[in-house]
Amino acid sequence: MSSERIDTSMPSPVLRKSSDVIVSGIQPSGALHLGNYFGALRQHIQLHETHEAYYFIVNYHTLTTLRDRDKLRRYTLDVALDYLALGFNPQAAYLFMQSDVPEVTELAWIFSNLATVSQLEKGVAYKDKIAQGLPANAGLFTYPVLQAADILIYGGTLVPVGADQKQHIEMTRVLAERFNRTYCPEDDPVFPVPEPYILSDVAVVPGLDGRKMSKSYENAIGIFEEGKVLKKKVMSIVTDSTPLEAPKDPEHDNVFTLIRLFADSETRERIAEAYRAGGFGYGHAKKELLTLIDEHFAEARIRRKELARHPDDVFDILREGGRKARERAGEYMERVREHVGLITTYEAAP
Ligand code: TRP
Repeated sequence: MSSERIDTSMPSPVLRKSSDVIVSGIQPSGALHLGNYFGALRQHIQLHETHEAYYFIVNYHTLTTLRDRDKLRRYTLDVALDYLALGFNPQAAYLFMQSDVPEVTELAWIFSNLATVSQLEKGVAYKDKIAQGLPANAGLFTYPVLQAADILIYGGTLVPVGADQKQHIEMTRVLAERFNRTYCPEDDPVFPVPEPYILSDVAVVPGLDGRKMSKSYENAIGIFEEGKVLKKKVMSIVTDSTPLEAPKDPEHDNVFTLIRLFADSETRERIAEAYRAGGFGYGHAKKELLTLIDEHFAEARIRRKELARHPDDVFDILREGGRKARERAGEYMERVREHVGLITTYEAAP
């Protein structure tokens, strides 16, 4: 995958220091799409090369809305395949399943006694989901508490997420501070107070209909779609009805917005020039886009197919990531239990 290419269109990260501990969770909710790729995944992949990073597939969180064992298992593996195919290097950072660190649920329980109902009732994500008709179960309600545990159990300091997660990170900060204030001496807090690193303002990726690309709008292009399926989707991207001969404004076109994400500056300029010159139709632009997508993901597609043939190897990678993450989580949990006064007499987890 030609990942250097896209760097040109990325603003320099707001990272404060390389000692930041990067933590982020990924929902296993089906095949990831270009919006996920440009909105989070690609930055996750970049960050993990230079930082201590913990990326976990949040299968506990998914239970709040998904009750299909086969889908949950398949989606979990899908996320792992996507990350590994797109360049996540298991030697550089940790990729694992949330459920391989079951202590997060213990910490979430402890936090749920510090979170207030009124605060959770203000949860935008919760209210949205209820408005969509999802059953208001307690897991959905306390979702942000589990997310706080996810982040704090590794001592996370920086959380790269989409703008929609701002409120959840704010709740995490409140819980970290409240825990420290309630249980710790002022000069020896257990948890760092993490900061969000908001990614999705970086690139709003239009879907086939021009609205923001989203699984729920059914306007998404999957990262690993190819061949006829991909072609059909690209050809169906909504454009205006400027005739082929007429000059076009690349700045106001969904196809060009996508082209811009994939193309290096030279290609981008060449295509923009063709738009402005006229005699270049949206069909031509779509062909260019198709070629760019194919090139961009060519290696990743091969890698993903190869990995998919060896799911056991993928689970080995997840297991090893989870084991190391659990070690770190264990250290935090020991301090937590001690501070809150929980006595455990069992042997520490391996
Ligand atoms: N709520 C996040 C989302 O929907 C997923 C998530 C769960 C997460 N735990 C996390 C993100 C911890 C960052 C850190 O995308």
